[in-house]
Amino acid sequence: MTFELVTHEGATKAELYLSLEAQLRSLLEGERDFVANMANFASLLFHSLPDLNWSGFYLLKDNQLVLGPFQGKPACIRIPMGEGVCGTAAARRETILVANVHDFPGHIACDNASNSEIVVPVVAGETLIGVLDLDSPLFSRFDDADAKGLNELVNIFTGATDL
Ligand code: SME
Repeated sequence: MTFELVTHEGATKAELYLSLEAQLRSLLEGERDFVANMANFASLLFHSLPDLNWSGFYLLKDNQLVLGPFQGKPACIRIPMGEGVCGTAAARRETILVANVHDFPGHIACDNASNSEIVVPVVAGETLIGVLDLDSPLFSRFDDADAKGLNELVNIFTGATDL
């Protein structure tokens, strides 16, 4: 199988996320394994969204978030619930947008290049599975359009994967 990434030059964020929804559906079609689907989802985001230096998952295990499939530099392995941006988003089950990570109390720095971040909880039914985390070297890289688009993509992922 080869998967051709679509280029999105000149597209609005809404157009970009609509295209990513179609690409993600196609990428996950016929496969429900969660590691495989998380790995391809993280890769699709890393290679399609501009100005990212990290894209990946942390998975809830024994009340900690443990590093899952990702793209980018090696990262922190365990994050306690309620700590850092990831642990806060997981504990609140809310998407968190951080315009400047250096201003976020308790931010956990895995890569000094990161300046802004978005974390989206991954929830299947009532069960918290973990979080999707994206980092950028740009300040204020993520906005409400990213939050909406990424939540849609996470919903496609949870519907297409055995969790
Ligand atoms: N910055 C995150 C840690 C994970 S890395 O960004 C990959 C946090 O504060 O939870």
